[in-house]
Amino acid sequence: MKDSLLLSPARWAAGTVRLPGSKSISNRCLLLAALASGETEIRDLLDSDDTEVMLAALKALGVSIEACGDQAIRVTGVAGSFPVKQAELYLGNAGTAFRSLTAALAVSGGHYQLSGVPRMHERPIGDLVDSLRTLGADIRYLGGEGFPPLDIHPGSVRSGSVAVRGDVSSQFLTALLMALPLTGQAVEIEVVGELISKPYIEITLNLMARFGVTVTRSGWQKFAIAAAQRYRSPGVLYVEGDASSASYFLAAAAIAGGPVRVLGVGAKSIQGDVRFAEALEKMGVEIETGENFISARSPRTGKLKAFDADFNHIPDAAMTLAVVALFADGPCTLRNIASWRVKETDRIAAMATELAKLGATVAAGEDYLRVSAPVSLNPNVAIDTYDDHRMAMCFSLIALGGVPVVINNPGCVAKTYPGYFADFARIASPVIAIDGPSASGKGTVAALVAERLGFHYLDSGSLYRLTALAATRAGIAWEDEAQVAGIAAKLPAEFSGAKILLAGDDVTLAIRSEECSKGASIVAALPAVRAALLDRQRRYRQAPGLVAEGRDMGSVVFPDAVLKVFLTASAKARAERRHKQLIEKGMSANISSLLRELQERDARDAARSVAPLQKCADALLLDTTELSVDQAVTAVLEQVDLLSDATNARP
Ligand code: DC
Repeated sequence: MKDSLLLSPARWAAGTVRLPGSKSISNRCLLLAALASGETEIRDLLDSDDTEVMLAALKALGVSIEACGDQAIRVTGVAGSFPVKQAELYLGNAGTAFRSLTAALAVSGGHYQLSGVPRMHERPIGDLVDSLRTLGADIRYLGGEGFPPLDIHPGSVRSGSVAVRGDVSSQFLTALLMALPLTGQAVEIEVVGELISKPYIEITLNLMARFGVTVTRSGWQKFAIAAAQRYRSPGVLYVEGDASSASYFLAAAAIAGGPVRVLGVGAKSIQGDVRFAEALEKMGVEIETGENFISARSPRTGKLKAFDADFNHIPDAAMTLAVVALFADGPCTLRNIASWRVKETDRIAAMATELAKLGATVAAGEDYLRVSAPVSLNPNVAIDTYDDHRMAMCFSLIALGGVPVVINNPGCVAKTYPGYFADFARIASPVIAIDGPSASGKGTVAALVAERLGFHYLDSGSLYRLTALAATRAGIAWEDEAQVAGIAAKLPAEFSGAKILLAGDDVTLAIRSEECSKGASIVAALPAVRAALLDRQRRYRQAPGLVAEGRDMGSVVFPDAVLKVFLTASAKARAERRHKQLIEKGMSANISSLLRELQERDARDAARSVAPLQKCADALLLDTTELSVDQAVTAVLEQVDLLSDATNARP
């Protein structure tokens, strides 16, 4: 990926996003499946840097892991003891992998060295090491006291009780909980200090239970693991979508209209970060939650309400709220977020610095952040991301404030969400697909809707017309599928204002000729030609959005279009419109023959096997027989307003 990414201004976020798998669940499942007896098939596993680190480490420890089908892997568990007893593991900046492997390897009876990126060596681990040492583990520091890299020797871990600090990182407790059942002995863990990020402990306990180990918990202070429990494979396990990743899209809807729906998390989610939606709801955002989805849209009236709240339970998703604060009706305060300071970067400092660059007034304390929005956001700010995936994803939302923003080192999102910017671009550039029979006025209406919304416009029919003309010029028959597809793939066409150029020639009028219409309808029926034009059409989708007109816009090219409209009118009305057009152009025309031609064309279009003319099941039917062009445009825009908050969607 490039060193920086410029995100164009956008105003309306809408659409559906299938979330990548949860990082927290993926890495816990991988370790538990590796330690269990039996084979575990893990489906919908997150494919990212952090899971790659865990997978590589487990393989190096002798665990057999193989792909089985799309987004699924099969892990053959080692029944409690890694076969490889000596290894050097590099764990990048994956905190979930580093902390949990430290504990698991401390009880594994081998000699292991664990290291990571320089930032990993600044992230504390001393409290976990101290706890493991009291149980008899032999762990030494290879660098600074209390920090990675670590040198783990075979120890003799005893049963008993152990204390662990809960107020620095909940990952220390997670690591102990997952590792100590391997000793087969009864253990009691006592948490010292207020336990932070409690929902992450719930994920841990939930997944341990799926692998057959139960923990008895008294409040959030004491956790007891009975003796002689063993991890056993649950067989098949599905990883939920990542609730922290969901926060960016729900926030996008909150800022810029919506509706945005995320798939993969919902009412039954075991991830604490789904409670991010509650925080948005308190700001006035409309939230709908289903079993496997959450959707959001902006408040119907007024701005987002300011907040002053404790976000200890959702430390990762709360970062997103620091950026949403820029769109609130007053200063917003995020409290009890001290854990931010020991994450991928010092997130309180990083947030404060970057928000200030945008013009915000920010007060940052040891464990809080207060954000007051500027009157207007500074455009073209280059956001530094500190090798922190969440900084990059959070600040992409600035583009939805209608200002361009530059994200430095955008590739850092690969830690948890390699496809983030592609998904963000899709929801930040919604598509309105418009189709309809010949002379229904779809071209005129679509172009005007695009103009009124300030959207890009794709007249897909012109691409087929251009292909037909280019074929004629190259002396290729319209029926020659392979040759015409070759032409379509490299079509030297340019749209320059109202002009359409083919290899530099102005062909605006030429492609509208009867001859070209005939050729277009022949080449458009060739599947290879349609395939050749597919990517080209999809590239028209750019912020702030696209109105795409033509046959398969809503069904094939942009099936996720937020609004699909099928414009129609009676054949008589269409014949009259065409007649008027021709007369105005000074051409002679006869209504009854135009009517007959249209009816014949409708029949042919509806019957053809490739991209036949038909209304998509999810398209809205708009009969314009009795409507003027203006009324038809207004009717489409009303649908846009119904979907989103009008004030956000309109320039
Ligand atoms: O919309 P139009 O008349 O300019 O379209 C020219 C031809 O291309 C017409 O026969 C329909 C066909 N077409 C298509 O098959 N798929 C599209 N997306 C657009 C047009």
